[in-house]
Amino acid sequence: MIIAPSLLAADFGHFAKETARVQKTDAEWLHLDIMDGHFVPNLSFGPQVVKAVRSLSRQFFDVHLMCSQPEILLEPFVRAGADQLIVHVELGEAVLPLLWKIRSLGRRVGLAINPPTEIRRVAPYLDKIDHLLVMTVNPGFGGQDFIHEALPKVQQARDWRGEKGLAFSIGVDGGVGFDTVGECAQAGADVFVSGSALFAAPSLKRAVTRMRRLAHEHDPALADLKISTPAS
Ligand code: DX5
Ligand code: ZN
Repeated sequence: MIIAPSLLAADFGHFAKETARVQKTDAEWLHLDIMDGHFVPNLSFGPQVVKAVRSLSRQFFDVHLMCSQPEILLEPFVRAGADQLIVHVELGEAVLPLLWKIRSLGRRVGLAINPPTEIRRVAPYLDKIDHLLVMTVNPGFGGQDFIHEALPKVQQARDWRGEKGLAFSIGVDGGVGFDTVGECAQAGADVFVSGSALFAAPSLKRAVTRMRRLAHEHDPALADLKISTPAS
């Protein structure tokens, strides 16, 4: 299981301090939300910020590209220190070349799906990805309410993974907190992205431990997934 605090919920005035706070936890990944003001109605930060944070962190960098033209951003984010690059299935025909490009750059290949998009849209790509990110909010902002209707997609992805003998990890992103992490684990998620719930806690370190424990309680069989280096 992997806990991935999302830096979007950090205090933007103190990125260095916030990154150090995440470093002190046993979270395996740092989730970095990249928004272009077009694919989603918000802007976040770019490769230069990720590069600056990279020099302060040993965690696996999980870069979530909520962008209409990720092809122009893949190389800059690889140079900035991304370990995994996630693009959205809603980009249609652009998806396959993007997955190939990420693979050719030697980084872990991720695909995300928004709440209104049908899960069958990811089916053609499952044997080409290392990670499937099921959005449990409509992307663009942190701190939104969890969309329970997205969970059957996690179950379907887990079933397909088993049936096809594949090994991609399954993440949930958006509204994942202490009250919702259990049902995500039960549905089959093994990577838990969480922003506001973790950063709002008085101790980020204890919050990560608590989230991990709650996920385990709901799915004791959850495999110990440890990914610290990009897949080759
Ligand atoms: C939403 C982002 C999420 C966000 C999650 O657009 O993709 O990663 O940071 O934040 P919370 O956990 O606050 O919903
Ligand atoms: Zn995200």
